[in-house]
Amino acid sequence: MSQASKSSWKLVLATLLASLSLATAHFELQYPPWRGNTLKDDMQWKYPCGGIPVTNNRTKWPLRGGDISVVPGWNAGHPTAFFYVNMGFGSTPPNMTNIMQPVFQMTGPSKDPYPGSFCLRDVPLPINASVKAGDNATIQVIQLALHGAALYNCADITFVEPGEEDKIPDGMCVNSTTFGFNLVYTTRSSSVSSKHLFDRTTMITVLLGGLLLGTWL
Ligand SMILES: *[C@@H]1O[C@H](CO)[C@@H](O)[C@H](O)[C@H]1NC(C)=O
Ligand SMILES: *[C@@H]1O[C@H](CO)[C@@H](O)[C@H](O)[C@H]1NC(C)=O
Ligand SMILES: *[C@@H]1O[C@H](CO)[C@@H](O)[C@H](O)[C@H]1NC(C)=O
Ligand SMILES: *[C@@H]1O[C@H](CO)[C@@H](O)[C@H](O)[C@H]1NC(C)=O
Ligand SMILES: *[C@@H]1O[C@H](CO)[C@@H](O)[C@H](O)[C@H]1NC(C)=O
Repeated sequence: MSQASKSSWKLVLATLLASLSLATAHFELQYPPWRGNTLKDDMQWKYPCGGIPVTNNRTKWPLRGGDISVVPGWNAGHPTAFFYVNMGFGSTPPNMTNIMQPVFQMTGPSKDPYPGSFCLRDVPLPINASVKAGDNATIQVIQLALHGAALYNCADITFVEPGEEDKIPDGMCVNSTTFGFNLVYTTRSSSVSSKHLFDRTTMITVLLGGLLLGTWL
């Protein structure tokens, strides 16, 4: 094959991969293990759990909170994303509105699929959670793309006393060095914008004043 045709093939392949990745951004909940494989058929877009109903395949998870490991970059499609981690209580949770981990932003290496995972250590139970060993719950992880579309995965768990949990496999609770994390917070911008407003009003007054003065003179 000539050099030119080789590189044009590379271009075609790269374009194909890029369009594939844009079409199918996805993530995997590694631990506790997800309800099932939601990587196929665009299932992950379905609220609340990527289209998979509650399972009996429950991970024993510590009563005081535990580790959560995510592979964020299966066909990433975007170099950054927001993550939410929530809990629903009971064997078939009526809702997933109990926050475990406040929203944070992850930054990945590129828009292309990337290997690697991140792991949140000892994520606590939601504030005011009232559970005992043997109770069931579901952990929901949401990945929010930059354009606002959300992907969902869930893991079903049973609470156990610390030490009795299903241990996270060796080497799974790591942060790949290719990822970064940012806190997400709100800030009041009213003082800034009212200053701009003030400046503008002043400008308009000065302009009007100038105009009026002009007609008087
Ligand atoms: C239950 O979970 C384990 C661990 O993720 C998995 O290997 C197994 O295939 C699951 N079984 C079913 C029936 O989904
Ligand atoms: C938790 O779920 C399992 C099935 O997944 C069920 O057998 C068990 O009774 C449930 N426990 C409680 C306290 O509801
Ligand atoms: C959510 O579910 C909990 C039980 O886990 C229930 O107490 C609460 O009222 C529900 N909240 C809403 C908004 O439905
Ligand atoms: C937790 O419970 C306390 C006492 O009942 C209550 O004042 C507080 O608002 C609750 N916090 C949340 C986040 O629900
Ligand atoms: C991964 O990074 C997050 C965010 O900085 C941190 O909370 C977590 O503890 C780290 N995980 C490990 C295994 O170091």
